[in-house]
Amino acid sequence: MTTRVAILISGGGSNMIKLVESMVGDHPARPVLVGSNDPEAGGLAKAAALGVPVMAVDHRPFKGDRPAFEAVLQARLEEAAPDVICLAGFMRVLTEGFVRRWEGRMLNIHPSLLPKYKGLHTHARALEAGETEAGCSVHLVTPALDDGPILGQAVVPILEGDTPDTLAARVLVQEHRLYPAVLERFVRGNLTPLQLS
Ligand code: GAR
Repeated sequence: MTTRVAILISGGGSNMIKLVESMVGDHPARPVLVGSNDPEAGGLAKAAALGVPVMAVDHRPFKGDRPAFEAVLQARLEEAAPDVICLAGFMRVLTEGFVRRWEGRMLNIHPSLLPKYKGLHTHARALEAGETEAGCSVHLVTPALDDGPILGQAVVPILEGDTPDTLAARVLVQEHRLYPAVLERFVRGNLTPLQLS
């Protein structure tokens, strides 16, 4: 049976595109929805161009009432009946109530070698700390931010003269390899962490 995947984004959606493009042929999953908390998110038009249904629930009118925002998001998601949700640059913190509904079925990609550098400004913090390598992680989402079981990681070197932007670009290349690979393994029931170098 085909696994139905919804992808949530907030921005340009480059990871989303790689996920959508990966779900073809004998891949056991198909994308059924791309959603965003920002109706202007650039990724929505790109998803629509790829033939994936899109939706947006603007978080701003909810004025910080996360449960109210999530109730609408949940309803819109349920219309698409996904089996798995991939957060791909989705920049809203989710409440425990929402996470519990999708626990074990919701993945996230984070641009650091978790458990290091949870939260924002990961690349600047890695550089400031004098790290010699950085990377990205795909993990199962649990109520604590950027904290769930790790399903895969990819490592990149930090080079002399790196800025947060140059490092982010190097990490993003690996995100695009890692997330589709982890998603396919996950859908096939393989939760053993994948290590890419
Ligand atoms: C990616 O680098 C992703 O890891 C990061 O946002 C970017 C989205 O880019 N996610 C987070 O920082 C989550 N805390 P994209 O829209 O081009 O995929």
